[in-house]
Amino acid sequence: MSELIEVLTKDGSYSLRSVFFQENFHSLLGALEETKSKFTATSDLQRFKGKSLSVLDICFGLGYNSASLLNELIKQKSYLNLYALEIDKKPLEYSLRNESFLKLWDPKVKRIFKSLYCNDYFEDQFFKCSFLWGDARKKINIIPPSIKFDLIYLDGFSPQKCPQVWTIEFLSKVTEKLKPQGYLITYSSSAAVRKTLRNFGLEIFTIKPSFNNKTLWSQGTVAISKFHKNKLKANFNFEKLSLMEEEHLLTKASIPYRDKDLNLNKDDIIKKRLDEQLLSNLLSTNKWREKWGMTKLSSRVRFK
Ligand SMILES: C[S@@+](CC[C@H](N)C(=O)[O-])C[C@H]1O[C@@H](n2cnc3c(N)ncnc32)[C@H](O)[C@@H]1O
Repeated sequence: MSELIEVLTKDGSYSLRSVFFQENFHSLLGALEETKSKFTATSDLQRFKGKSLSVLDICFGLGYNSASLLNELIKQKSYLNLYALEIDKKPLEYSLRNESFLKLWDPKVKRIFKSLYCNDYFEDQFFKCSFLWGDARKKINIIPPSIKFDLIYLDGFSPQKCPQVWTIEFLSKVTEKLKPQGYLITYSSSAAVRKTLRNFGLEIFTIKPSFNNKTLWSQGTVAISKFHKNKLKANFNFEKLSLMEEEHLLTKASIPYRDKDLNLNKDDIIKKRLDEQLLSNLLSTNKWREKWGMTKLSSRVRFK
């Protein structure tokens, strides 16, 4: 599964490309920039200064999202309970060998990553980190039901390349693990994913495009569980969906990915959805694209 090719992104940070999934791990504009602008800045970490939080990192990969999180929490002396899910050990192995990746962070991040690689675990006064290797669809069941998360990062390959981690059934398991007011953060602006999360009763926000790339209409999605307006701190990184994004959710693109027993392969999940789209009376996604002057939907520029 894991033939991986090294990729140098535009901000000078390294990433990988998966031959199996035919997709890059990060935007070519910058792996570090992507992590910071989509995941770290969106997390409102200052809320947890000197306090404790629980985070679930799904599709850990090289570990940019966890590394950036740990780096900030070290500075602000927070207490963290981290769980990470990942099917392939090679990306973390690559991170541990890549000096320029390691140099991005406080040296403690390297110690934690080494321990996660060798022992699947790290613990000290501030941090308790557990790594669950394998298919996230199965391994998520091992997390004790009593543990609920303040933040969940969902960073799988795109729904068309890896629909297994974007289905109604998997997203249901994921969102069950959110605390009230907890954030599920993903780079995906897929209508299918957004609609599914909204149908679960989560409040959906769009991550605003970054200054470096104004051509994209969104950098992803934040879904907040049991949202309460008065409890949300002002975050300038995300906002309500635009009219264009709302209308996207009325099109055939919003038809969900399904995987009833959480064991289907990619092709079966894609085919099931195509069949459902063919029978659907929802608006055509091409019409929506024409209306809003769009030729291509791309929320993560991986190939350019
Ligand atoms: C886009 S990359 C993740 C990028 C990552 N957050 C980083 O910082 O490098 C997607 C990751 O999902 C992993 N993956 C794919 N299918 C998976 C599954 N069913 N369960 C768990 N991990 C999976 C891949 O091995 C890959 O490392």
